[in-house]
Amino acid sequence: MTKSVKLRCPFTWKDRHVALHDRVWYIPQYYNQFETFKFEGWEHPNLFGNKKPVKIEYCSGNGAWIGSKAISDPHTNWVAVEMKFERARKIWSKIKREQLNNLLVVCGEAETLTEQYIPDDSVSEVSINFPDPWPKQRHAKNRIIKLPFIKELHRVLKPGGMFHFVTDDAPYSEIMIELSKKFDGFESVHPAPYYVHENSEYGTSFFEELWRERGRVIRYHQYRKI
Ligand SMILES: C[S@@+](CC[C@H](N)C(=O)[O-])C[C@H]1O[C@@H](n2cnc3c(N)ncnc32)[C@H](O)[C@@H]1O
Repeated sequence: MTKSVKLRCPFTWKDRHVALHDRVWYIPQYYNQFETFKFEGWEHPNLFGNKKPVKIEYCSGNGAWIGSKAISDPHTNWVAVEMKFERARKIWSKIKREQLNNLLVVCGEAETLTEQYIPDDSVSEVSINFPDPWPKQRHAKNRIIKLPFIKELHRVLKPGGMFHFVTDDAPYSEIMIELSKKFDGFESVHPAPYYVHENSEYGTSFFEELWRERGRVIRYHQYRKI
């Protein structure tokens, strides 16, 4: 079995740079020379080497949801985005263990990856499952759900592409719904109240299992790019 500890970051802090190595795309934090790395397209041999649809999960954690997706749907190219190295390397372990050529892990920050590298109209679906809600107002800047990022998701999705947002946090769900009303680039697949509590087809993440065990109520939101 490939242990996640075998993955080593390919640079030190001093010589950090954007790198693509052994199915991990590293985008360092506190770094700004993004132009030194050229994104050659999802179909480039260093990424997927084919033209299958690309689906991204942001904030993947240990990769339970996207790992299962990559196994059950080999006709899709899956991209896990996780900024914490120790979690990204757990996803890398799954890639190695299950030989998942259709799964790539980005060890980097979601907005940075999207803004700097992802081309317009190039992604079929994006999912954000149980992102940290940052409930205190003074931490609100850390929330991934904010208007500029929603606009970026809209930019990278193909016309008709789907955006899934799943949370157990009712105030965060309301923030998402309010923002989607302010931005007319997406339409909700679900009529008011704009979410459902069950979605058996969707798959299960680590945090979903945890919160269900603790009796929390889950909200699944789904938006289509207009
Ligand atoms: C609460 S966990 C949810 C993990 C997983 N989606 C699940 O449902 O089990 C949130 C994860 O998002 C990651 N994260 C938070 N903000 C991020 C960002 N801006 N870019 C990439 N990853 C982020 C955290 O490191 C953490 O692993």
